[in-house]
Amino acid sequence: MVLARNVFTSAAVAAFISMLTFGFGAPVFAQDLTDNETCLECHADTERAPPSNPDRPQVHNPAGGFFVEDHETWSCVDCHTYIVDLEHEESASGQEVDCTNCHEEAPTK
Ligand code: HEC
Ligand code: HEC
Ligand code: HEC
Repeated sequence: MVLARNVFTSAAVAAFISMLTFGFGAPVFAQDLTDNETCLECHADTERAPPSNPDRPQVHNPAGGFFVEDHETWSCVDCHTYIVDLEHEESASGQEVDCTNCHEEAPTK
C-alpha cells in the first residue's frame, strides 16, 4: 500500500510540473503546424469563399484544393503565416495572405 501511494504521489507531482511547464489549458503535445494534415483535420471539405478583392485570382478552388498546381506543394502556413497555433478561431478572421511573400507583384486577373 505504501508503494502504491508513492506511485500515485509522484504521478501527481509529475502532472503538476508538466502543467507548470506547459501552462494550464495549453496542449501538452505540440502539433506540427507545417503538416497540412494537421490543418485538414478541421478544414477539409469546407467551401472556400472567393477573395474579397474581385481583381485578385482565387487561390483555393471551392472544394478546398488549388486552382494553380504550383500552390499545392506548399504548407498551409507558408501562405497563412498568421496561423501560429491552433487556437486561431478568432485571431485568423479578417487576416489576409500576402501574395508578395512569394510573388514579385500580387497577381491580378
Ligand atoms: C482543431 C480544429 C482546427 C485546426 C486543426 C485548424 N483550424 Fe483553422 N480554424 C478553425 C476554426 C474553428 C476556425 C474559425 C471558423 C472558420 O473560419 O472556419 C478556423 C479559421 C481558420 C482560418 C480563417 C478562415 C477565415 O474565416 O478567414 C484560416 C486561414 C485557418 N483556420 C487556417 C488553418 C491552418 C493553416 C491550420 C493548420 C496549421 C489550421 N487552420 C488548423 C479550426 C481549426
Ligand atoms: C498559395 C497560398 C495558399 C496556400 C498554400 C493555402 N492557402 Fe488557404 N487561402 C489562401 C488565400 C489567398 C485565401 C483567400 C481566398 C482565396 O483566394 O482562395 C485562403 C483562404 C483560406 C481559408 C478561409 C476561406 C474560407 O472561405 O473559409 C481557409 C480556412 C484556408 N485558406 C485554409 C487553408 C489550408 C487548410 C491550407 C493547406 C491545406 C491552405 N489554406 C493553403 C492562400 C493559401
Ligand atoms: C508560399 C509562396 C506563394 C504565395 C504566398 C503565393 N504564391 Fe502564387 N505561386 C507560387 C509559385 C511558386 C508559383 C509558380 C511560379 C510562378 O508562376 O511565379 C505561383 C503561381 C501563381 C499563379 C499562376 C502563375 C501566374 O503568376 O499567373 C497565380 C495566379 C498565383 N500564383 C496567384 C497567387 C495569389 C493571388 C497569391 C496571394 C493571394 C499567391 N499566389 C501567393 C507561390 C506562392
